[in-house]
Amino acid sequence: MSDESASDPRAELAAGLLRRPQAALAPKFFYDRLGSALFVAITELDEYTLTRDEAAVLAAHGDEIAAAVHARLGPRPTLVDLGAGDCAKAAALFTRLQPARYVAVDIAVDFVREALAALQQRHPAIEMWGVGQDFSQRLALPAGLPAGPALVFYPGSSIGNFEPADALRLLQQARAAAAGGALLIGVDLVRAAPSLHAAYDDALGVTAAFNLNLLRHANRLLGSDFDPRQWAHEASWDAAGSRVQMWLRARQALTVRWPGGERMFAAGERIHTENAFKWTPEAFAALLRDAGWRAPRHWREGAGRFAVFLASA
Ligand code: AVJ
Repeated sequence: MSDESASDPRAELAAGLLRRPQAALAPKFFYDRLGSALFVAITELDEYTLTRDEAAVLAAHGDEIAAAVHARLGPRPTLVDLGAGDCAKAAALFTRLQPARYVAVDIAVDFVREALAALQQRHPAIEMWGVGQDFSQRLALPAGLPAGPALVFYPGSSIGNFEPADALRLLQQARAAAAGGALLIGVDLVRAAPSLHAAYDDALGVTAAFNLNLLRHANRLLGSDFDPRQWAHEASWDAAGSRVQMWLRARQALTVRWPGGERMFAAGERIHTENAFKWTPEAFAALLRDAGWRAPRHWREGAGRFAVFLASA
């Protein structure tokens, strides 16, 4: 996406729809209210194990992870949470990590502030900050925050949404944000194709609804006239690219219009909506080192589908 569209969702959506040869809408636009609820539903699906796998790693190895964090950062670290959302994943670490300060970063700052207000009641001793930022474009913590080393927490394998080159850039920016601290990051791992495909094309059609809902959200943000009934969900595992890709495929020839623009789609033409890159532990450790992170180590759940990495800035 071009720079001038970086902070303007309408310009970004329009630029994506006009992209040639293939239109693209960024996955961050999945997450309006309904989209966020549909993602929570996805995490309950039999086929989608990612979220449960990450929780299993943190439950099984949480004490060891916390000890390693304290060894690197001292007893009361600052915790910076990227894509904090409802702050639940970070809050689940509070007891073990004992953070002095919690900085929740999310594109949806109102949502985060609401969550923080509730969390502050339960944890009055933790200093809490909410930062509204679309760090998918550029991560840079605002100058007003207290300086010092931090544990940057980036759970959920959201790093998988980034092309390797963009993941490298984000991890470099995360290292600057850690200011000499550390990184705790969840990564979904490469595994057999059928299991990866099913995770993004479930029997109940929840992922299809999640993907199609992007069109409703685009209609609201951009004023476009997508009719979700004219589109079909598609997902496939690209082994060579080590990624699951999702698209919306036009069921018929159609034209989408919005204030100031339009695009015709042929029957069968697709809009790209998501990449979910999967990593091997070796490749992800190498990516961390390339981004300047030191001494990466990781923990996995029993099935070896998911890894949580810790590395020093
Ligand atoms: C939230 C980006 C980790 O890629 O697995 C779930 C989003 N997309 N089903 C993922 C998603 C389709 C999810 N992440």
